[in-house]
Amino acid sequence: MDAFLFYVFIFLLTLFFSHFLITKFTSNNGSKNRSSAKLPPGSMGWPYIGETLQLYSQDPNTFFASKQKRYGDIFKTHILGCPSVMLASPEAAKFVLVTEAHLFKPTYPKSKERLIGPSALFFHQGDYHVRLRKLVQSSLSLDAIKNLVADIEAAAVSASTSWVNGQVINTFHEMKKLSFDVGILSIFGHLEARVTKELKENYSIVDKGYNSFPNNIPGTSYKKALLARKKLSKILSDIIWERKEKKVVNIKNDDLVDCFLNSKDEKGEVLSNDQIADNIIGVLFAAQDTTASVMTWILKFLHDEPKLLEAVKAEQKEIRRLNEENKQRLTWTQTRNMPLTYKVVLESLRIASIISFTFREAVADVEYKGYLIPKGWKVMPLFRNIHHNPEFFDQPQKFDPSRFEVSPKPNTFMPFGTGTHACPGNELAKLEILIMLHHLVNNFRWEIVGSESGVQYGPFPVPHKGLPVRVWRESL
Ligand code: HEM
Repeated sequence: MDAFLFYVFIFLLTLFFSHFLITKFTSNNGSKNRSSAKLPPGSMGWPYIGETLQLYSQDPNTFFASKQKRYGDIFKTHILGCPSVMLASPEAAKFVLVTEAHLFKPTYPKSKERLIGPSALFFHQGDYHVRLRKLVQSSLSLDAIKNLVADIEAAAVSASTSWVNGQVINTFHEMKKLSFDVGILSIFGHLEARVTKELKENYSIVDKGYNSFPNNIPGTSYKKALLARKKLSKILSDIIWERKEKKVVNIKNDDLVDCFLNSKDEKGEVLSNDQIADNIIGVLFAAQDTTASVMTWILKFLHDEPKLLEAVKAEQKEIRRLNEENKQRLTWTQTRNMPLTYKVVLESLRIASIISFTFREAVADVEYKGYLIPKGWKVMPLFRNIHHNPEFFDQPQKFDPSRFEVSPKPNTFMPFGTGTHACPGNELAKLEILIMLHHLVNNFRWEIVGSESGVQYGPFPVPHKGLPVRVWRESL
């Protein structure tokens, strides 16, 4: 309890100083030099803590939705020590993330940057970001990932080999194992089991520390995470060294490590080991919990819609039947031709909106629709509000994959973001989800354990307690 009070004290102290600095900073920018544009409507809450408590004392989505109802599509607030402008319209999201993206830089707490690594692409803007992004995109392109179908299927099978009839599994934990293995495949191709194990052990400590209170006190989750992050750097430099020195660069040159190792900028400079390591951890981080959360939601949505589940099963069983007849494995072409299952994936991405919003920071005073967004303020495009707006999605709370028979209006469906930082892993994520569903509905049935509903955040939303389900193997 003492430690808890200490953390609360430090937290409030941090808020106080950040508020002080921001107030000073924004007033130094001189409102008198600014255009006549006014700040958006909204409330800045209490001194220092703003509306942070309101945000965290309820479902954050309820907080954003009630604000939007009250103030409209653009409103100001003050959360986590930062004055912020929230944007809930497709046009505003496009303005910040696409057309005027250069005026809004990515922004993350320093404590998170330290854990992932400051050279990871999503902390950057400009030339370095463009260079890294091209490399990541090419290793996750359709051409590159189509070679991964058999390996991803093997990973899905292996993730479920230990499940026995009637056993209760924690869906989110199981899906995390799968998305970690798929992340490793796309980054390294095949990796020795011993090295994968070492990476997994240390990465899971970093993962635990990511959402804990940042401090340097020995024994705390954050400190342990920093130490594990150091070990990860060492493991990764050994892998890099081995690939460089023993010239075991993959002949196909399409896994991410090879793309990094083969890259030279216009001056002929190669990437440093630290830059490569930070970006490997960054991609693993971006890939694991996101994909696992979506897969967890899909199991829930299908469980709650038995007729839809039967229809998805029929689609997948037909593919399985054909493959058994022709003695072949699941193919890339088949994964591109699962119309109903694919719409289930899209609708799950919409309704779960696991990345409810993203953060940017205005690098200059910016005017949007007559409102001022002051330099230094956080700007948050609210993807979830857009995905749940009845103007764009009729009866938005209803799980209805058939709505995707027609393409959504531009900038109304952004589960993978949009613009300069849009998700380069979106095709891999969808491929992994489709393969996992093919395997699961063909081989298992599942029942949710317990009657409690609700959402928990860690930081992405997942069903209550990670969705414990009882699983049974289906006889063929
Ligand atoms: C269903 C799963 C996923 C979802 C919903 C998702 C969503 C997103 C979103 C919304 C962004 C943009 C964030 C922003 O603009 O601030 C993003 C960025 C990113 N994602 Fe994903 N992602 C998923 C899976 C993956 C996978 C599997 C990978 C890699 C294997 C990946 C790698 C990345 C990277 C590297 C970025 C940063 C891009 C940049 O800054 O240029 N993601 N993701």
